[in-house]
Amino acid sequence: MDFLTSSTHVHITTWVIALILFFVALKKPSTGVHMGLRLFYVLILVTGFMLFVTFDYLNPMLYGLKMLGGLIAIGLMEMTLVRKKKGKSNGGVLIGAILVLIITIVLGFALPGIA
Ligand code: HEM
Repeated sequence: MDFLTSSTHVHITTWVIALILFFVALKKPSTGVHMGLRLFYVLILVTGFMLFVTFDYLNPMLYGLKMLGGLIAIGLMEMTLVRKKKGKSNGGVLIGAILVLIITIVLGFALPGIA
């Protein structure tokens, strides 16, 4: 599984596609897009986890926070779409999702691993 840890490109590809699917599903709710997004959650988790176990020794605290941020971001994205589907207010979770996403992306690029 070298290709997952020799660069962060696969990880970046998975979360960029997930973000696109998230905003498409938010604008125009569709079960198909939401299912596709859930598949990409799994790909983000697999690629992120592989990077985590490989590089975590460089700075365990920051890598731990990065993983936590990624997990919370995925949780809030899913909550946003489910609340929208149920017709509940989703403004708060959406703002939370965007804030945690920004923190996760900044933290991700600040980490010392590979480019
Ligand atoms: C929506 C969720 C996520 C976003 C937006 C995101 C974003 C990013 C970004 C921007 C980078 C930096 C890439 C680079 O430096 O080239 C990165 C790297 C990384 N991410 Fe994620 N990530 C997410 C989820 C996760 C999850 C769930 C995990 C852990 C299970 C994780 C673990 C990592 C690790 C270990 C790195 C490598 C950092 C390094 O050494 O450069 N990420 N991520």
